[in-house]
Amino acid sequence: MEKIPLGKVSEIAAGRAKSYRAMGKDLIVVNTGDGLRGYVNFCTHMGGKLRCTGDVLECDWHGGQFDCKTGVAVPDAGGAPEGSELEKIEIAVEGDDLFWLYAPKKSPWALD
Ligand code: FES
Repeated sequence: MEKIPLGKVSEIAAGRAKSYRAMGKDLIVVNTGDGLRGYVNFCTHMGGKLRCTGDVLECDWHGGQFDCKTGVAVPDAGGAPEGSELEKIEIAVEGDDLFWLYAPKKSPWALD
């Protein structure tokens, strides 16, 4: 597992989110006021980008919404399929430093 530096925790106020790009992926980390949550910034509908609007992450493309604390789609909100979930990422905090604990997925064709 690799520890990828993302930024400073103090840059994300409660109720806000910050986007990052690391290891070829768009990520978003939300300060829920009850801790930080990290997700791949890729809507479950068609891959639109998400932004924080209070308690939800909202998709710019068709208005899909996801609960900031769980990443689960809010029913009947835009195009996000009901019951779908954002891909969570593991994050770590050391002092004011925020890291993504990156574990590359193994290829199904790997020989080892
Ligand atoms: S791509 Fe996000 S709601 Fe359609």
